[in-house]
Amino acid sequence: MLVVAIVMVAFDWRLAVVAFLVSAPLVLVLRTVQRHLVAAHTKSREKNADLLADVGEIFAGVETIQAYGAVDTFLSRTLKSIGVRAKANIRAGVIGAFLFPSGEVFATLTVASVIGTGIALGPGSGITAGALVGFVFLTYRFLEPIAEFTETIDQTQSAVAGLRRVISVLDTPIGPEESSRPLPLPTGSLGVDVRNVTFSYRSRGDDENDEPVLTDINLLIAPGEHVAFVGPSGSGKTTLARLISRLVDPQIGTVSVGGVDLRRVANADLRSRLVVVPQEPFLFATTIGENLVFADPNATRQDVVATFEELR
Ligand SMILES: Nc1ncnc2c1ncn2[C@@H]1O[C@H](COP(=O)(O)OP(=O)(O)OP(=O)(O)O)[C@@H](O)[C@H]1O
Ligand SMILES: [Mg+2]
Repeated sequence: MLVVAIVMVAFDWRLAVVAFLVSAPLVLVLRTVQRHLVAAHTKSREKNADLLADVGEIFAGVETIQAYGAVDTFLSRTLKSIGVRAKANIRAGVIGAFLFPSGEVFATLTVASVIGTGIALGPGSGITAGALVGFVFLTYRFLEPIAEFTETIDQTQSAVAGLRRVISVLDTPIGPEESSRPLPLPTGSLGVDVRNVTFSYRSRGDDENDEPVLTDINLLIAPGEHVAFVGPSGSGKTTLARLISRLVDPQIGTVSVGGVDLRRVANADLRSRLVVVPQEPFLFATTIGENLVFADPNATRQDVVATFEELR
């Protein structure tokens, strides 16, 4: 583009100035459209994720939904999600559709201005009909990359929006931050010491989750001791298990395992010593054998068989 611009100036600087001035606002137009396009594609991706979440929830809870006769409620909710997603997609499509014509409009305007100026200056100024045709050809060459750019920009902006979403999901921290200078857990059976713990789920930032789920909890489990937490639904049993397995950190107080504050224990160290069996068991879509070894890829077939033998 730069080389063509230099050739244009060398060919006839007056026509070149006209071509540059008339096509310059296109850069501004493209920038504005591009900004709106990224925003529209980002929104479209978000709505797509919302829809997938809704559908995923229906698949996971289909029995509950049917048992409570809530099929219509979920159906209308999903239809609404589909509508919102379609609207976001159409908006992105409409903005994208502006790109190509805006490039074409500016190209036509630029060529028309060049021809108009050439005719106005007349042969007296040294611009012959042949030179003018040659310059028009140059102007098209000059604007060609912009036309190509407008053709691909829609797809690239959609990809950029997708990439940003993937990165933001990958960047979401999972669980509390690991200590940079971890302390090793002692060998042998470990005790658990929960001291003055207060915890609320306030990570989502809404007021509703600011209410503490656990308040000033003290609990001492000796090594080898068997303990069961009993309480009404929602009283915080799972939350206490999450604190002990450090899936969350308390806002006040400390949780120690084997005498070490969990904030100082390396995740891998803790996971190799502490096993969590979740309330809702989750099986990956593969064989039972592979489900058994996924936490320990080094486990052999004999290990799996031995485990089953032990359970018999
Ligand atoms: N991820 C979360 N975000 C926000 N609030 C949560 C979250 N998980 C649980 N809660 C809330 O914390 C409280 C305690 O929940 P928890 O799951 O610990 O109870 P529970 O005793 O295990 O109940 P259940 O017997 O039903 O398993 C409840 O009010 C619940 O709504
Ligand atoms: Mg629970």
